[in-house]
Amino acid sequence: MVAPKTAACPVHSSFNPLSDNYLSDPYPTLSAVRDEVPVFFAPEVDMWVVTRYDDIDAIFRDPATFSASVGQRPVFPMSSEAQSILAKGFHAFPVMSDCDPPRHTRIRKHNMTGFSGRRIAKLEPKVLAKATQMFDGIRPGLVDLVDAVTYPLPAYMIFTFIGFPDEDMDTLKRWCGNRMLFSWGHPSPALQAEIATNMVHYWRYCENFVAERARSPQDDFTSDLIRIHQADPDSLSLHEITNIAYGLSFAGHETTTNFTSNAVHRLLTHREQWDAVVADQGLINNAIEETLRYDSSIIAWRRMATRPTTVGGVDIPGGAKLMLLLGAAGRDPGHFSAPEEFDIHRGDARRHLAFGKGIHYCIGAALARMEARIVLDLLATRAPEVRIVDDQEYTFPANISFRGPQQLWVQWPASDS
Ligand code: HEM
Repeated sequence: MVAPKTAACPVHSSFNPLSDNYLSDPYPTLSAVRDEVPVFFAPEVDMWVVTRYDDIDAIFRDPATFSASVGQRPVFPMSSEAQSILAKGFHAFPVMSDCDPPRHTRIRKHNMTGFSGRRIAKLEPKVLAKATQMFDGIRPGLVDLVDAVTYPLPAYMIFTFIGFPDEDMDTLKRWCGNRMLFSWGHPSPALQAEIATNMVHYWRYCENFVAERARSPQDDFTSDLIRIHQADPDSLSLHEITNIAYGLSFAGHETTTNFTSNAVHRLLTHREQWDAVVADQGLINNAIEETLRYDSSIIAWRRMATRPTTVGGVDIPGGAKLMLLLGAAGRDPGHFSAPEEFDIHRGDARRHLAFGKGIHYCIGAALARMEARIVLDLLATRAPEVRIVDDQEYTFPANISFRGPQQLWVQWPASDS
């Protein structure tokens, strides 16, 4: 543990981002700590917590002082059983979100080629068709929209984008289950072993898949990377491509599930704003930005100080791990007027930090926005009368970063209008 060095840094022993209270609604705590101090040390997670927009923004813009390398490391020590399971068959190494320059620069450049406008445009009609099929399958009555749409659709989108075949989707989804708890939660040793086993299965699947695409490239993102490798093997290795496929299937899945669920939840619980969206679907884009500001699916991200530095006037030792409270930055009164109000008409929503900033800016932002737009468009067109079930109890995955309701019950109207 790197203990706080100066008396100036407050220690919040009570800050526990895995407590039931915080998980069910972190926003009162996020606002309270942000209003109180810019930075504090949280022994529970052994991290220096950064609460304000300007400081988080500055950290994102300074990758030399703030390394991304801790981004995916388990918050708590891994069990020895999980370690030995991974040692036998999991050969991932940092390539993107937890990688620093110069490797990050090279790999990100190649990824950008794969995330071309052409590839995203080709994907959109497929996502629309799949979403339409999912909405077609909904029957009047009580419906869990996570189960019916917001969980399966992002999985379909990202797996299709990578090039994984349709018939493997259910297995892949099973292997992904609980993955976020591994690095961002505090799972029991038994659950760690189960997740580690699935990670090994998944890793091997990605290795085989990349080898297969190398033999026979197709029209998909992975094949775009294979072509880069074949033109110059030194510029991107097959092992790196395997890492990219592995990482993307996680980065692009539950982030978007949770985000789309949050957007539907916020709109349906602010009925007048939902009615406004139904009346004018041109409001959907801003509703998406407002949800990213107000209730994004990633409420905290991590960095590590590469040297002693100062954040928000507080001295931070080299090697300190930092927890950046994106959920607090989105409601920072220094940047947003009436920040605690969800308002799809606001003009400043798009200035949120929900996708990060700088060299690690979310590479899937366009995909996430596209998918949320498709879901909200279809929902507003097909079921404008849809109602949230008022007295439901929401549950959220027990981790420090990723947030969205695990079920979202709605009353689906008797007939689509
Ligand atoms: C609403 C959904 C999403 C949210 C809120 C989100 C948020 C973020 C955040 C906060 C970062 C870290 C930025 C930083 O470290 O500075 C990030 C990075 C990243 N995201 Fe997303 N993301 C979402 C969807 C997606 C999707 C759909 C994909 C893939 C298709 C994706 C792929 C990535 C990757 C690969 C990185 C690392 C980029 C790099 O390090 O250069 N994300 N995202």
